[in-house]
Amino acid sequence: MRHLTTRQFIAAAASVAALALVGPAQAQSPIVIKFSHVVAPNTPKGQGADKFKELAEKYTNGKVKVEVYPNSQLYKDKEEVEALQLGAVQMLAPSLAKFGPLGVKEFEVFDLPYILPDKAALQRITTGPIGKGLLAKLEPKGIKGLAYWDNGFKIMTSNKPMHKVADFQGMKLRIQSSKVLEAQMRALGAIPQVLAFSEVYQAMQTGVVDGNENTPSNVYTQKMHEVQKHMTLSNHGYIGYAVIVNKKFWDGLPADVKPQVEKAMDEATAYANGLSQKENDDAIVAMKKAGTTTFYELKPEERAEWMKAMEPVTADMASRVGKQLIADFQKEANAKTN
Ligand code: LMR
Repeated sequence: MRHLTTRQFIAAAASVAALALVGPAQAQSPIVIKFSHVVAPNTPKGQGADKFKELAEKYTNGKVKVEVYPNSQLYKDKEEVEALQLGAVQMLAPSLAKFGPLGVKEFEVFDLPYILPDKAALQRITTGPIGKGLLAKLEPKGIKGLAYWDNGFKIMTSNKPMHKVADFQGMKLRIQSSKVLEAQMRALGAIPQVLAFSEVYQAMQTGVVDGNENTPSNVYTQKMHEVQKHMTLSNHGYIGYAVIVNKKFWDGLPADVKPQVEKAMDEATAYANGLSQKENDDAIVAMKKAGTTTFYELKPEERAEWMKAMEPVTADMASRVGKQLIADFQKEANAKTN
């Protein structure tokens, strides 16, 4: 019932947005881009969105107005994608782990444990044919993919130490809505629970979940360190985003506006990707300073044990994500640059 109400609300908002597009005031009033996201403003994605707003408004001399709605203020994870398709918002940057429910499950290749050795590999993949090919898969869904924004590698958090694989046995760990992440948690012996990002802090506080995997920046800006006593700096997986727009809206942008908006997106992308590592490094420093959490670096033999436990996930998920895609991804990820 509640879901129906949300859908109805989104549909109503979409009709208002559509009316605004065809109204007589169109020539004078700015084109509004509503950019909804689920994280805090002081994260890599939050700062990327704010930079895009600043640049798009500047380069179009105010012909475009960007309204940024952070922290799930407008919509939660699943609803924001529905809202984009219905035209109630125009732009999002969901995590690559959240495209499965939309029917583009190939993005979950990014969720495979240890698939990205470093940020150079990420750069090669997102700017090359694999990254472009994945974005193109969104078009039949009425969505245009504009860019990849980086966040970073994930850590594990909970109220008890997680050093050995046996420590995960029976732990309820929150995940994003990705079948690969579900398989990964099961491979560790944990019980995965899909929850919207905005619900994680409270779920930890009330014991609905024991912990989660996320980037240090997300953990810190959601204050999860207040309710999680232990963090393992495992870097076992990756979180990044695809910046997406409603295709109909994008295709309908006037020719004197679109190049400026594209320029703003290119520069906001470089900006966001340039600060992601530092944001995550700073988040760890800040959480250490807060003193509420114990941080743990895996010993080489522990890391090897984690990798071994998660290794079957890649083969098990091949039928979902695509065997060829995984092979191409691994080849590019491990290619030597010189
Ligand atoms: C999460 O749900 O944990 C992340 O995808 C949130 C985000 O957008 O970084």
